[in-house]
Amino acid sequence: MAGLVVAMDGPSGSGKSSASRGVARALGLRYLDTGAQYRAMTWWILRQGVDLADSATIAARCGEPEIVSGTDPDSPAIHVGAVDVAGPIREDEVTSAVSAVAAVPEVRARLVALQREIIGAGDIVVEGRDIGTVVAPDAPVKIYLTASPEARAQRRSAELAGTTAEAQQAALARRDTLDSTRKTDPLSMADGAVELDTTALNLDEVIAEVLRLVKERT
Ligand code: C5P
Repeated sequence: MAGLVVAMDGPSGSGKSSASRGVARALGLRYLDTGAQYRAMTWWILRQGVDLADSATIAARCGEPEIVSGTDPDSPAIHVGAVDVAGPIREDEVTSAVSAVAAVPEVRARLVALQREIIGAGDIVVEGRDIGTVVAPDAPVKIYLTASPEARAQRRSAELAGTTAEAQQAALARRDTLDSTRKTDPLSMADGAVELDTTALNLDEVIAEVLRLVKERT
């Protein structure tokens, strides 16, 4: 299985992170959360006081922060320079700003290059929005995870304290629209990807199905 790349794409709340980490663990592969890199970039941009509508400044400055991703599925680390940002990147401020930053083509070019460097020799499960379409189109296994809007919102509100499923559904719908309608590398299903609807599946069932697809395609 040397060199294997498993691309896991899909919208927020489709169960990508838990499933990707579970698959990496089961197969002894590395794991890369590309969403965490877009969040880390967004955290840094916000800290600089850059206006989110000012895409020219975001484009000009996105080469400045050093973004360092760990690839251990048991404790995926993310740093900006020496600062551990694993906690701050999950805060609402970053979550509501990330789609605007991720839509800037220069941000995408920088992070896609970084992702390709990490993916390198393979043996990795990579989750994101454009892994099968742009970052690793030759990956032998491409999965597109979906779930009903209700199930996705339910999962998110169970993870986050102090939020209702209704509020989550509205926030997810807003992010989906921004992510799938942006000009550069929008969220879409890759050629050759297998769609997996996780609405009625628990985590173990999702992992088992992905493992079955990996076995079938490698
Ligand atoms: O997966 P997560 O919810 O952490 O991703 C945060 C945001 O990062 C997404 O809403 C999207 O705007 C952006 N993203 C992206 N391309 C990726 C991964 C994430 O544009 N490959």
